[in-house]
Amino acid sequence: MSEEYATPEVLIVGAGLGGIMLGILLEQIGIPYRIFERATKLKPLGSVMTLGPTILPIFEQLGLLDDIIKISLPCKSLDMYNPQLNKIGSIDLSPHKVTGGYENYLFARPRLYELMLNHIPPEKLTMGKKILRVEEKDSRVVIYCADGTRCEGDILVGADGAYSGVRQSLYKTMNEKGILPKSDLENLSIGFVSMVGVSTPPNPEKFPQMSDGIAHYSNVLGKDTRSWGVFAVPDNQVCFVIAQQLSQAEAKEQQFRNSEWGPEANDAMLKEFYDMPCPWGGKMGEFFDATPKELISKVYLEEKLFKTWYHGRTVLIGDACHKMLPGAGQGAVNAMQDAVVLANCLYSMKDSSQGSITGAYQEYYKQRFERSEVQFERSSAMSKTISGQTWSARLIRSVLLNYLPKSALQVSFNKTFEYKPQIAWLPLAEAPSKVQAIPQEGERKPLSEERKVKAFITSQMQIRDYIDEAQAVAI
Ligand SMILES: Cc1cc2nc3c(=O)[nH]c(=O)nc-3n(C[C@H](O)[C@H](O)[C@H](O)COP(=O)(O)OP(=O)(O)OC[C@H]3O[C@@H](n4cnc5c(N)ncnc54)[C@H](O)[C@@H]3O)c2cc1C
Ligand SMILES: *[C@@H]1O[C@H](CO)[C@@H](O)[C@H](O)[C@H]1NC(C)=O
Ligand SMILES: *[C@@H]1O[C@H](CO)[C@@H](O)[C@H](O)[C@H]1NC(C)=O
Repeated sequence: MSEEYATPEVLIVGAGLGGIMLGILLEQIGIPYRIFERATKLKPLGSVMTLGPTILPIFEQLGLLDDIIKISLPCKSLDMYNPQLNKIGSIDLSPHKVTGGYENYLFARPRLYELMLNHIPPEKLTMGKKILRVEEKDSRVVIYCADGTRCEGDILVGADGAYSGVRQSLYKTMNEKGILPKSDLENLSIGFVSMVGVSTPPNPEKFPQMSDGIAHYSNVLGKDTRSWGVFAVPDNQVCFVIAQQLSQAEAKEQQFRNSEWGPEANDAMLKEFYDMPCPWGGKMGEFFDATPKELISKVYLEEKLFKTWYHGRTVLIGDACHKMLPGAGQGAVNAMQDAVVLANCLYSMKDSSQGSITGAYQEYYKQRFERSEVQFERSSAMSKTISGQTWSARLIRSVLLNYLPKSALQVSFNKTFEYKPQIAWLPLAEAPSKVQAIPQEGERKPLSEERKVKAFITSQMQIRDYIDEAQAVAI
């Protein structure tokens, strides 16, 4: 008897790390997909990022672990300094390899992005496509783009980040029907404004931290609401982040902003941090000067956990449904875990009926919501520990660094390492670790020969778009 499985057409909005990971996975199981990205060209934006024990098994399953190791340095501790550059505390990551099975690797975001993008056939990713609106019609989902085209499919994935257009359009419809929880209408709350970049200093010999093969993570907490840091990555590069915590009033004032990871280099903010002392010697300005201006991005760091992740044929992943502060390095990890769990659920779908799709989305939500909630809370607490400057944040930090036994943090790491979702159709990656991972949720089964052949054929399929008559007339 032939196996029953679905090959729905999947539209993915947003080519961030979440959307790209989902594409890599769908490519393997022969589910036709197309990725739509608003940016007109791919730019190496962003700065320091880290991947650790809860996500590396997936890269190992995909055969990409060595590639990750090549672009990274292992990070053993997060060090915090005062403005006089005395070390005021440290978070020890060195047990991770033993307790979690993998090191914590630190790298520059553009390198990971490039590595993952290499696994997406170019014809499946279209740049310069900004999605304005989504609609469900005759058992299909339709997306409308700013360039006057539309495209339709069976499944729509909003992987379009914190300001997700897919989410806004979906929530608008749900709100009109009176089925959206009220809290989902509230705005994200802004914690920090920051500028980030990857610098190539002309004089690497000046900084021994750049040549010992360890990812030094050095963050300074200013005496006001500012913090700044440098992070060693391979190839004589240094990631930097400068950040300012916003007060309630300032945050309100910023609500009109168009918050994107755009390179609107803000000279005023760079200037303010130019003379700040770098924990490795010299001034922060030296690193700004050694970074192409157009690749320094200004970003607002915000947080919000949305309750509604799916409705009808639409589903959200990554920052579109849970925007976390960056302190625990969980934003990208959780976006990619969402992609894996969603792909697993689509893999075991029997057909593309609304009933089966709803079943898959329910299972995805069941496996992911509470896990991401835990990481959302941890990210909030860690961010305030690492760079928070309000009175309560200082208090938390001082308690965490000075009074709590070191083991309290390790307990929280141990807890986190229990959850390592993996790809359902590939053999499990099982690096030995002291902390036992909980069993994989959902059905696991290898790709059948029949399905592999079908996957090869499907992977040649193109989902095309159309000039939208109505919009074309309007224009
Ligand atoms: C350029 C960039 C640089 C970043 N740098 C850092 C960093 O240095 N450190 C850090 O911790 N995090 C950084 N992040 C955020 C981090 O990558 C995310 O928090 C995390 O990876 C979750 O990713 P995501 O795929 O859910 O969302 P995102 O990474 O935000 O990706 C969303 C994608 O959707 C696109 N998009 C948005 N709206 C639309 C629309 N209407 N139509 C079509 N496309 C749309 C965006 O252009 C973007 O490419 C960066 C994100 C980006 C996009
Ligand atoms: C959210 O922010 C927008 C501005 O971006 C503002 O118009 C709106 O009133 C805010 N909504 C809430 C609920 O605060
Ligand atoms: C973390 O887990 C490992 C393995 O179970 C254990 O040896 C270690 O003591 C734990 N650490 C803490 C602080 O609980």
